[in-house]
Amino acid sequence: MQWWNSIMSWVDDRFPATRMFEDHLSKYYAPKNFNIWYFFGSLSLLVLVNQLVTGIWLTMAYNPSAEGAFDSIEYIMRDVDYGWLIRYLHSTGASAFFLVVYLHMFRGLLYGSYRKPRELVWTLGMFIYFALMIEAFFGYLLPWGQMSYWGAQVIVSLLGALPWIGEDLMLWVRGDYLISGVTLNRFFSLHVVAVPLVLVALVVMHLLALHEVGSNNPDGIDIKSKTDDKGVPLDGVPFHPYYSVHDLVGVVVFLFVFCVIVFFFPDGGGYFLEKPNYEPANPLKTPDHIAPVWYFTPFYSMLRAVPDKLGGVITMAAAIAILFALPWLDKSPVRSIRYKGLLSKLALAVLVVSFVILGYLGTVAPTDIKNLIARICTALYFLYFLLMPFYTRIERAKPVPERVRVSH
Ligand code: HEM
Repeated sequence: MQWWNSIMSWVDDRFPATRMFEDHLSKYYAPKNFNIWYFFGSLSLLVLVNQLVTGIWLTMAYNPSAEGAFDSIEYIMRDVDYGWLIRYLHSTGASAFFLVVYLHMFRGLLYGSYRKPRELVWTLGMFIYFALMIEAFFGYLLPWGQMSYWGAQVIVSLLGALPWIGEDLMLWVRGDYLISGVTLNRFFSLHVVAVPLVLVALVVMHLLALHEVGSNNPDGIDIKSKTDDKGVPLDGVPFHPYYSVHDLVGVVVFLFVFCVIVFFFPDGGGYFLEKPNYEPANPLKTPDHIAPVWYFTPFYSMLRAVPDKLGGVITMAAAIAILFALPWLDKSPVRSIRYKGLLSKLALAVLVVSFVILGYLGTVAPTDIKNLIARICTALYFLYFLLMPFYTRIERAKPVPERVRVSH
């Protein structure tokens, strides 16, 4: 392939193409003991690309006005060639995004991937997560259905709970005295241009930060400490072709499940596309039960669990903010849950169970007993983080092996 080599050497004299390929793929040494939890980073990338591509096509036929938005979605669903497919790929993609990102974050908790020297990888990940929430919130108003309208109404009105600036801030965000076409227009421009740009930039920084320090692994061992005489980690394999091919297995399994949902259950039983959203927005008729999409419900439950509105908003914000502090709360001498003590394992299990219960409670109408459970789960959620400096110190960690373990 003489012609290819000459093209590449011409390019390399002007742009670091080969160097970038080597630094990030063919000579990036990843630990050889990655397990299925390590699929979710590449799957997040895949879903990001799906959202960007389907989003661009949806924008071609969508009309961002209060008069035309709902009808343009119907037009996409019924008249645009394969419009239904593009829309379902995008709406199911939103849920898939949160699912893979939650699993990706959980992997970080399992193996202590947020610990030194990966604090910035985690922090940038948290900024991604926050940007993703904002992106999903803006996007949800666009179909201009009943739940779009009232969901936005509830969330924007939370700003009103802030002392002094609340009212003005609410007005500023909506651009009107109520959620209106003006709000729809600005949410549209933020959803299709501003936030995606920020997201992509953050993902690039996330990966650059990761490649600067190297990947963690299920044993939480630093593979860079044992190298051959060329400086190549003994427990590392080149990302390409080993993991690029390996990740394809994850992609195929993911796409199989994803396509089953897209083609057979696109509304996910009302969890991915909520039923009231098949009715056009009506500012004069409040739906009986307003609930956000499943990925926001754990935080929505926390908001409702606190009787005072401002207290609820602060609790919800703190629940996200505390995740940023995680790298500095874990004082264990080891990274991975494999070698941590019983208390860490118990604490992580309690966190997951509380988060799932909160998620469920956020989808149903509140009652006294459900409120009580939500309060207990909210407290347990925070205790996982607040007590971490103590239980990670007092428990007895197991000895960490010299080299990574690979099971066959
Ligand atoms: C658009 C969303 C995201 C994309 C595309 C993405 C992409 C990736 C990729 C490709 C990797 C390397 C492969 C892997 O370790 O799985 C990675 C690693 C990592 N990500 Fe993300 N990520 C996203 C969101 C997040 C979030 C929200 C967090 C946490 C708050 C996070 C935390 C991490 C950490 C700690 C690592 C290093 C893991 C390790 O080495 O064990 N990421 N990410």
